[in-house]
Amino acid sequence: MNALRIDSNRLIKRLKDLGKVGSTGDGGCCRLALTEEDKAGRDLVTGWMRELGLHVTIDAIGNTVGVWQVGSGRPVMMGSHIDTVRTGGIYDGNLGVLAGLEVIETLQRAGVTPRRPLAVAFFTDEEGARFAPDMLGSLVYVGGLDLAAALDTVAIDGARLGDELQRIGYAGAASCPAVEAPHAFVELHVEQGPRLEVEGQRIGVVTGVQGISWKELTILGQSNHAGTTPMALRHDPAYAAAAIAVFLRQLAAELGGDQVCTVGKIDLFPNLINVVPAQAVLTLDVRNTDEQRLQQAEARIDAFCRDLAETEGVQLQFRTLARFAPVVFDPRVDEVIETVAGDLGLSTLRMPSGAGHDAQMLARLCPAAMIFTQSHRGVSHNPAEYTDPTNLAEGCNVLLHTVLRLADTDFV
Ligand code: GLV
Ligand code: MN
Ligand code: MN
Repeated sequence: MNALRIDSNRLIKRLKDLGKVGSTGDGGCCRLALTEEDKAGRDLVTGWMRELGLHVTIDAIGNTVGVWQVGSGRPVMMGSHIDTVRTGGIYDGNLGVLAGLEVIETLQRAGVTPRRPLAVAFFTDEEGARFAPDMLGSLVYVGGLDLAAALDTVAIDGARLGDELQRIGYAGAASCPAVEAPHAFVELHVEQGPRLEVEGQRIGVVTGVQGISWKELTILGQSNHAGTTPMALRHDPAYAAAAIAVFLRQLAAELGGDQVCTVGKIDLFPNLINVVPAQAVLTLDVRNTDEQRLQQAEARIDAFCRDLAETEGVQLQFRTLARFAPVVFDPRVDEVIETVAGDLGLSTLRMPSGAGHDAQMLARLCPAAMIFTQSHRGVSHNPAEYTDPTNLAEGCNVLLHTVLRLADTDFV
């Protein structure tokens, strides 16, 4: 059994086929949650699930689970997401889902029956790029967000989540939150950062996920003529937005450690060359592995923005889009991943995740952890995202033997 290996060509073919859906033509992918492209990706993956004989259920928020009904008891669940950011790669999320299918196909072809059922899930709107917060589907799945509130979420393009779910035919009948917790959950994912490659390690044993704070800030000023308004009389939201972006960069440098801060979006209105804008809307993405430090960073940003608003004479409106405390994964699952990787002759690095993942939500429900494979040059949320076939196969083989052992483990 320990000699069993996945078929990397089959895995890569599915990754490439799914990557063609919403292809941006430069190696990347655009399948924002609940768009036509997301629907086409969902249709492809559920088709593959059915070809493997999995029992497919879709829940009220569109989370889709395929179960290989073998063995007995609650399933060991694998999975991740298949939505992408607007300029995403083909590996982020997709790998965890398609590796789950590959694990099941490998076992089926080898005639190996695990002691428990195996499930593969893709959760709705993990990216949070169209509908905030991120990990929305898995958050509802674990009971962390009310279904009705989630369905009422409004997208960056004004669409209502529940309407979009209906429109693409993925408002399913299965209840959400889930009625039964999986036995365990394991998510294989590309690292999306540089550490494994730089440190020459093959497999990341993910110990947890850093805390995430997402805010939208609207700055209201006074629109005026760019040529005639003296500098001292301006109440300029563009200036304030730029000053905040600079402050975030400086704050991250000052706080050091794991602190990261990003202004990923700035919209100006009316966005014209000769008009001091009336309004700026920007997003603040602030993350730290330590909750107290994250709170300190949030407080410093808040104070800076309020001082700036006073001196510039602009008004601020904050809206929280997502706020998740750091999550620690189950050490028993990490132990299994580490042992399996060692048995396969692969070096490991214990590390936290910088990105948010569905596994951090599933961790509220059952023993959960993650496996990372190298990301070339640490590039992600970018069409150039790349993980080589050897790394993909190694990660998927670690997933294969991890789920087999978890199926044999009775957590007490
Ligand atoms: C979601 O995947 C995030 O970490 O931004
Ligand atoms: Mn992801
Ligand atoms: Mn992502």
